[in-house]
Amino acid sequence: MTALNTATRRRIASRMDNIKTSSIYVLMARVIDLKAQGVDVQSLTAGEPDVDTPPHIVEAAHRAMLAGDTHYTPVRGSHAVREAIRAKYARESGLDFADEQVMVATGSKQIVFNALAVTLEPGDEVLLPAPYWAAYPTMIYAAGGVPKIVTARRENGYKLTADELRQSIGPRTRWVILNTPSNPTGAVYSEDELRDLGNVLIDYPDVWILSDEVYDRLHYLAKQPVSLATVCPQLANRLLISNGMSKGYAMTGWRIGTAAGPADLIAAMADLQAQTTLSPSSISQAAAVAALNGPTEALDHMVDVYRRRRDLVMSFAARNADLQISRPDGAFFALIDVSKVIADPARFAGDDVAFASWLLDEHRVAVVPGVDFGAKGTVRISFATDEATIERGLDALYRAVKTLG
Ligand SMILES: Cc1ncc(COP(=O)(O)O)c(C=O)c1O
Repeated sequence: MTALNTATRRRIASRMDNIKTSSIYVLMARVIDLKAQGVDVQSLTAGEPDVDTPPHIVEAAHRAMLAGDTHYTPVRGSHAVREAIRAKYARESGLDFADEQVMVATGSKQIVFNALAVTLEPGDEVLLPAPYWAAYPTMIYAAGGVPKIVTARRENGYKLTADELRQSIGPRTRWVILNTPSNPTGAVYSEDELRDLGNVLIDYPDVWILSDEVYDRLHYLAKQPVSLATVCPQLANRLLISNGMSKGYAMTGWRIGTAAGPADLIAAMADLQAQTTLSPSSISQAAAVAALNGPTEALDHMVDVYRRRRDLVMSFAARNADLQISRPDGAFFALIDVSKVIADPARFAGDDVAFASWLLDEHRVAVVPGVDFGAKGTVRISFATDEATIERGLDALYRAVKTLG
């Protein structure tokens, strides 16, 4: 046998160098371990609704199984789910998508990855406003691109301004990602803010826009947040709306993501998906149809509960002016700027990961360090958990910070 140059050959490809499990998962694993040992930990880390999927959705899935809806479906999803997606956008956003402009995937994670993978050439840049959802940079790298981070400032509610956007777009920019309502800040762009951003994007016809609206049902405003697609119809030939059932319908485990956008992009995404995972589960698609077309009382109630919890979180803001909580208008997260209290070089030296570890080890409260979201000096808390846990967890956090002097 000829000896190959095994000494220099890598077992794992170099493109994996930038693809790592984020500290969120490491931290969650520690929380699970501690809880298994009987330690009382207040966990403010949840990334999913703390309620189960409403029964009418579960029953629809059950009926679908019994009716033999247990086979492959078309790659872009069953006719019924495609119709339900189109109806949602017509009803809620006044957007008229043709059938070939919509598809489903195994979670909106797969939608985002598909979109990047079928458009990016090696080295292309994706403009990513920080704080961002931790999965984006990894997906950009995995698709051959390079994230170009532009920091949205706390003073602006962690929202990117039109000027910041214009200054950041360069010759290699292929995508701009906007996530509203946002994970991790809960920020929601207003119609005017979106119009300003849209007016900048109109000047860059080669740039795709990803509008990640997976939290669109979870908001605490008087009016449903608008989509950039509604505000700026001129962008329609390069704007993709990524959405899904996970958050607003309490269906994280069913793994259904949805996309609506230009037909050529959707076709390419479907081609990739056809040869990798094919359609998502037929049963989950049937559940999604029931969710999209069905009653919303249980889900609206969930939003009311989250609104109360959001207010509970904000009631802590007055307790220590050195901790700045971003007021979330959507999703179920808030970012706390802890940079002042962790600045001491002799203590945390600004390291939010060390601070979060200390909170967990010494004070039994779990929060997610901001560095994963491109938001150094912050921690993310989730209020997708009961009021008692939020109360005890934040109380522990504020007391802990007091001991730092
Ligand atoms: C901003 C954002 N987009 C997309 C997703 C992906 O959700 P799913 O793949 O469950 O649809 C998440 C999940 O945390 C998220 O926070």
